[in-house]
Amino acid sequence: MTMQINAVRLKRNIIALSEIGGQPNGGVTRLAYSIQEKQAREWVAARFQECGLPVRLDAAGNLFAHLRGRFPLPLVMTGSHVDTVPNGGHFDGAAGTLAALEVGNTLREAGFKPVNSIEFAVFAAEESPRFKAGNRFGSRALVGQVGPADAELLTDENGITLAQAMCALELDPALLPTAQQRHGAIKAFLELHIEQGTELQALGIPVGVVTRVAGTRRYQIEVWGRADHSGGTPMHARQDALAAASQIILEIERAANEIGGSLVETVTTLSVEPNAMNIVPGKVVLGVDMRDIHCDALDRATLALFESVDSVAQQRGVAATITVLRETAPIKLAPHLCDAMREAGARAGIPTALVPSHTGHDAISMSAITDSGMIFVRNPGGKSHSPAECVEWDDLALATQLLLETIVSLTEKVHA
Ligand code: CO
Repeated sequence: MTMQINAVRLKRNIIALSEIGGQPNGGVTRLAYSIQEKQAREWVAARFQECGLPVRLDAAGNLFAHLRGRFPLPLVMTGSHVDTVPNGGHFDGAAGTLAALEVGNTLREAGFKPVNSIEFAVFAAEESPRFKAGNRFGSRALVGQVGPADAELLTDENGITLAQAMCALELDPALLPTAQQRHGAIKAFLELHIEQGTELQALGIPVGVVTRVAGTRRYQIEVWGRADHSGGTPMHARQDALAAASQIILEIERAANEIGGSLVETVTTLSVEPNAMNIVPGKVVLGVDMRDIHCDALDRATLALFESVDSVAQQRGVAATITVLRETAPIKLAPHLCDAMREAGARAGIPTALVPSHTGHDAISMSAITDSGMIFVRNPGGKSHSPAECVEWDDLALATQLLLETIVSLTEKVHA
């Protein structure tokens, strides 16, 4: 028996979900632990229930729809998230969530009885714009990496803690530890996601099998000069924090180009004090984001960053400090899942290519407790976190079919 996903229903669901938190310019805003994220989750939950799959919500706000197999555990899990960045696109998170829904629908319609139970997950709060270091909060709660103390510490720009945001959605942060799933409970996790880059486009292949996920390092650099009157202070007597920061920014760019390969390094944020028209800047805070799939390149970039901050500070007579905000190691996804996806693609006539992921996903959290794999859908323009994000519907259908085929192969199918 060959099962075929319903591409029309999948497209219809993507369009319907994009209306929750939809913006006038075509973008979507469903921030982490916002009412729009909750509405989206409830909409997806209703679709799972319609196809006869019971759902449950855990303490972190992660939703799971369950297809019972012959054995309750270990189960095979697939899913993604429904929260977005401000004014994000229609596919980041939604594609993987609704591909999972489509797989659930298809399996139900076929009366498929798996040996291993299958769960379809909608993770809470994957994106970082609202709670910064609170990204992947739902999936990290599931693997026991965050708990009530983290929920109290993380705040959004309005001073609302993540715990308060949870309470507003009737989620009890004190119960977060109950969301944790133990090692061995999940046999494998698969996430379908839009590629947030153009490697598949360049290769001319619709579907990617992800081999490695880049590690991320984030640093905050504070440069302390001296605020002085911009009229009364001669050029030689200044300690201009912004001029020093500018030199640091260019040094970072130069070092990243020199290290080369797939390393990317960006000064993403800048705040200037006092930021007044007639005052030499006294203090500047820079945010640096670097990513690569190779640890040694990250190490070289980090070393170069520390050296350039030191030398610019000395040269210009300013003080500078560097704070580590985040360091996550590059991750190799489970080779046997890559093989399973490649083989399923070959059997089903779906062309696949092996690609890296330069961005973080729930699959990274899941890899802490189970074998994880990812399927990428070609992104013609490479745009993401933007209303311009897009995929070809045919590519999304192929990727979803590959997800279905792989899940079936992983659950040691037994037909009724
Ligand atoms: Co995403």
